[in-house]
Amino acid sequence: SKTKVAVFVGSLRKDSINKKLAKAVEKLMPAGYEFEYVDIGELPLYNQDYDADYPAPYRRLKQQIEGADALLFVTPEYNRSVPGVLKNAIDIGSRPWGKNSFAGKPAAVIGASIGTIGTAIAQQHVRGSLAFVDAPTLAQPEVFIHFKEGLFDDEGNIGSDETRKFLQAFVGKYVDWVAKHRS
Ligand code: FNR
Repeated sequence: SKTKVAVFVGSLRKDSINKKLAKAVEKLMPAGYEFEYVDIGELPLYNQDYDADYPAPYRRLKQQIEGADALLFVTPEYNRSVPGVLKNAIDIGSRPWGKNSFAGKPAAVIGASIGTIGTAIAQQHVRGSLAFVDAPTLAQPEVFIHFKEGLFDDEGNIGSDETRKFLQAFVGKYVDWVAKHRS
């Protein structure tokens, strides 16, 4: 069976450059891998009162994480940090206490921004949370994509040879990382 990657895109907008980046990476993945995009936009805001009896959308999220072999976080940077919608999903998946769904799942964090530092600070914040929820996260290469018009299209095509080669190298390391943690 295929190796399932649960993909968390930290932007809900239709034209998201991070969605396009996720598609581009999906297209570069070797055969035998399957991306499953996690729908984080409809999750009610985390409330610890729910820990006693998790609502259906929270349970679905946890099942999706637990059913995945690996995680990929593709995040924009909002005000030098993680978009709330993505942090909310991480919080929900980590609870109730003792039932953290992320533990042991190999992960990577990447992102694209119109700004020159390419979501570096947001990614660092996601990495901090992933360390706490015990998801072993690929250290290198870091993927800070400085987006310019035409870099990605909606089908996952990449308009720059340099970026394609770089993302292909990332995919190679990511696949090795996932394989190492599955065996
Ligand atoms: C931004 N943007 C932004 N960019 C950045 O590099 N660092 C930042 O701190 C911020 N802060 C920020 C806050 C908010 C509320 C918004 C809406 C935007 C710009 C951001 O990089 C740009 O909108 C991207 O296009 C967002 O990613 P998606 O939605 O295209 O994936």
